[in-house]
Amino acid sequence: MATKALALHQTTVGKKAIMAVTGFIMVGFVIAHMLGNMQVYSANPAAALKAYALLLRSFGGGLWVARLVLLGAVVLHAWAAISLVKQNAAARASRYHVKHDAVTSYAAKTMKYGGFVLLFFILYHLAHLTLHIPVGAPAVADEFAVFERMKAGFEVPWISALYILGNIALAMHLYHGVWSMLQSVGLNHRKYNALRKQAAVAVALVVGVGNISIPVAFMAGIVG
Ligand code: HEM
Repeated sequence: MATKALALHQTTVGKKAIMAVTGFIMVGFVIAHMLGNMQVYSANPAAALKAYALLLRSFGGGLWVARLVLLGAVVLHAWAAISLVKQNAAARASRYHVKHDAVTSYAAKTMKYGGFVLLFFILYHLAHLTLHIPVGAPAVADEFAVFERMKAGFEVPWISALYILGNIALAMHLYHGVWSMLQSVGLNHRKYNALRKQAAVAVALVVGVGNISIPVAFMAGIVG
């Protein structure tokens, strides 16, 4: 019987590599985005955020290239994840003995359900702050009034709660994601495992706490 050769993207190793590369792009984006968001704490946040939005628009085609790369990364990441889960389930079903690994299944569930919460949050977030569809928040007419739009949104408690929930899901996703991304690139050794965990915790905490502080600061009246 002839055996069909698999293309790299069809193999487990290929799919893990796709997850690691697309994950790396998205980790870079969320860190940069969180740092950009920190301008809400500057002396004149309305002016700083408006200038930032105008600067991004000044890249024109470059901004669209970045958006397409990001969108491609999200789609490929989700495709590789679903495909790996299916492949693992098929491999398990063909065995006589089912081994229950509590740690692995906890991480897998966190990634699966957390991934969906994150996707839902991102869709709401894009409608709210990128497409300016004020779902549940007062409308702000000026396209570049980023700070005023944030304020109008974060003064609505359920919108702030949604951002907090979305960012908790992001932090948990980042923790497991960075940990396994570093494993995929070969840092799976007793010598590096503690360091790998520390790096994952640091990325998750910095991005999560930085982002969550924003709706909290608006609700507490610290900014706005
Ligand atoms: C409290 C947390 C966050 C705040 C305050 C925030 C704020 C913003 C603002 C103001 C914009 C519009 C920028 C502009 O039009 O110039 C934006 C866009 C965007 N945000 Fe967020 N963001 C937060 C969290 C997140 C998270 C966690 C993600 C993804 C995991 C994310 C993904 C995006 C994306 C993809 C865009 C569209 C970029 C573009 O195509 O122009 N944001 N965000």
